[in-house]
Amino acid sequence: MATLTVSPAAGPAAASAAVPVGPLLSMFDPVYLGVDEFGQPVYVVLAYRNMLIAGEPGGGKSGLIQNITAHCFLAAGTRPVLLDPKLVELGMWADLAEEFVGPDITHALTTLRRVQQVMNNRYAWLLAHNRRKITPADGVSVIPVILDELAYYSATIGTKDQQAEFIALVRDIVARGRACAIPVIAATQRPSVDIIPTSLRDIFGFRVAFRCTTPNSSDIILGHGWAHSGFNAADISPVNQGVAYLIAEGGVPALFKAAYLTDDQINHLVDYATWIRTTRAPSPVPAPVTALAA
Ligand SMILES: Nc1ncnc2c1ncn2[C@@H]1O[C@H](COP(=O)(O)OP(=O)(O)O)[C@@H](O)[C@H]1O
Ligand SMILES: [Mg+2]
Repeated sequence: MATLTVSPAAGPAAASAAVPVGPLLSMFDPVYLGVDEFGQPVYVVLAYRNMLIAGEPGGGKSGLIQNITAHCFLAAGTRPVLLDPKLVELGMWADLAEEFVGPDITHALTTLRRVQQVMNNRYAWLLAHNRRKITPADGVSVIPVILDELAYYSATIGTKDQQAEFIALVRDIVARGRACAIPVIAATQRPSVDIIPTSLRDIFGFRVAFRCTTPNSSDIILGHGWAHSGFNAADISPVNQGVAYLIAEGGVPALFKAAYLTDDQINHLVDYATWIRTTRAPSPVPAPVTALAA
């Protein structure tokens, strides 16, 4: 097997260039989000679930998406697809991403069509093996689709037809991606019906409500009636950024405070992820045809 040679300047890999260095982290492991009201860590498993993150500007949505993105890149066997119209929230990961989409609806559509095709191929493969879902033992890569500011593509740029196709593609990937290791993590401001159709909003298994301006907005995210029962994201203090309610399918909303990564910490994580992703043992190089013939 060919070994990867790394120059001494590249860091610790130089001494162990032939040893596959893996983080031992996987997308099937719980993802750390922050701490709850009792100071206990809050984890979610995202491999088979989708997450919708919403709330008013400045609430902490992009901060949470950053934590999840970092987990995705530190995990082995992932090929994250990132869509970030602001460029700066996820752009630092662009070189490591399977695809990075900025403020470009055409690029967003071609990328999601590709993801949809991969999803169709994976279901054909599962059917051929009489299986219903992908498991870690399959060694198939997890493709997290991470979208910040979903409304930019679904309601702001592009023609009506492009926006409709974007929503249809996201809905299809959210609805069918789970079992074939293509989870969707999406953030938006108020997820009202003009931004995301209810039929799409309701199929996200995890929903996170950062501070909202009204109890009605909070209910739009968490589900009808929760604000009346005391689970109201409009009660979150505007100066307590990063606090949000998390609700899982069929559960009760729980308050937590998201962990927050500084720019320096993110840059450090990007460096580390770049290193562990480029120092893994490369695949065996196929023997040249001439050698086989000889
Ligand atoms: N978990 C957090 N802890 C502390 N401060 C936070 C946290 N999340 C966000 N903030 C602060 O709030 C600001 C806005 O957060 P951001 O994630 O960009 O909000 P949004 O994406 O909802 O508009 C950040 O620049 C940071 O100063
Ligand atoms: Mg943001």
